Amino acid sequence: MTLQPVRGTKDHLFEEAQHFQWIKDVCAHQATLGGFRRIETPIFEFTEVFHRLGESSDIVTKETYTFEDRGGESITLRPEGTAPVVRAVISNGLTQKLPLKFFYAAPMFRYERPQKGRYRQFHQFGVEFMGADQPLVDVEVMALGYGTLKALGIEKKVTLKVNTLGDKHSRSSFTKALVDYLTPLKDQLSEDSKTRLAKNPLRILDSKSPQDQEILKGAPTLAQHLTPEAKSYFDQVVEGLDALEIPYEIDTKLVRGLDYYCHTAFEFVTEDLGSQGAVIAGGRYDGLCEDLGGPALPSVGWAMGIERAQLLSQLPEQEPQDCYVVPVEDGDFASAQRLVMELRREGLHAQMFYKGALKKQLKKIDQQGAAWALIYGETEREEGGVMARHLPSGKQEFVSLKDLPHVLRKGELQ
Ligand code: HAM
Repeated sequence: MTLQPVRGTKDHLFEEAQHFQWIKDVCAHQATLGGFRRIETPIFEFTEVFHRLGESSDIVTKETYTFEDRGGESITLRPEGTAPVVRAVISNGLTQKLPLKFFYAAPMFRYERPQKGRYRQFHQFGVEFMGADQPLVDVEVMALGYGTLKALGIEKKVTLKVNTLGDKHSRSSFTKALVDYLTPLKDQLSEDSKTRLAKNPLRILDSKSPQDQEILKGAPTLAQHLTPEAKSYFDQVVEGLDALEIPYEIDTKLVRGLDYYCHTAFEFVTEDLGSQGAVIAGGRYDGLCEDLGGPALPSVGWAMGIERAQLLSQLPEQEPQDCYVVPVEDGDFASAQRLVMELRREGLHAQMFYKGALKKQLKKIDQQGAAWALIYGETEREEGGVMARHLPSGKQEFVSLKDLPHVLRKGELQ
């Protein structure tokens, strides 16, 4: 048997790894422009951090990697980043220093059926705006999502779908009406929806079963049950999006997989990734901090699936900058290495191969897609320079060691 990565995980190599890093850098840059600061939390937490999020969410009940550690503690690999960030805010006593704006780029773990765009270890870039309950904050957070997709060059491939889940009162009145409507029809519902009817009826709205969707056509809607405050909140969110000219669609069927949301829920979805259409997803989660034992902390945020953003985007072409110092004879390797170190001290990308005839080295360097081959043998050393071959243009010229950093930085010969 050859060793394979665990199902649903993958290695990121070469250009793919670079592409992945580029996405993280672009996202971090956008978040930093908005005053968000990086937060790193552990990849595992006490299980209760997640299990308090809702016993009816599949992510929490069916998909977590949970185990007992050697000390008998129940530990869960984080399936998402929001609860850990809220936990960190409580643990570090930050709930008085508001607002708090955090971002993270980190691996998450969910035991899901792997397919394109869905993995068991995947990575999220997320932002959390905490300690603010104004509708315009939701707008800012969605605008940051839109701006980030734009910076990645993929905003045209996605649509922003927005919905309101109302406040507590709206939701309990709606949930009751939905249960009253569905209970007499229970036998006709899919198995999943039957279970959800008892545990989390709102998730039935999200059902993919055509038969459930047919039944739902006659169901009451949340819009009919919104309190005036919740309706006004959502109106302000939508007006805010209009004012910033962010394109969106209202999708009254949008309910999120995690249970902690209220008011605004949103997803940036694409048609290009089959069934795994959500690239960014998030919403407002005013009650989560209290659920975790902290004070009230109205908050809103989102997370992007970095692998999904990668499937949609392209790494911009980058000018090669690597240069290789090429020793000519066996006796030239040590002095070539000294030159490599000098170039690195100048802040230049420099490396060398430690064996091989000149021709062989040049061939390998060419295959690496490098920018420069700097031939450095006895003659060059005596003349105080290198024979610099600029590989993209094929030009070659003697360059003195004094001028070399300048020429390499400029990226071309005279
Ligand atoms: P989520 O919708 O569960 O929300 O995940 C956010 C994003 O992570 C999804 O839209 C998708 O792009 C990506 N994602 C989820 N599962 C997978 C998977 N198995 N493989 C690849 N990508 C995946 C959350 O996690 C919330 N914490 C978002 C949030 C932040 N809400 C408020 N703040």
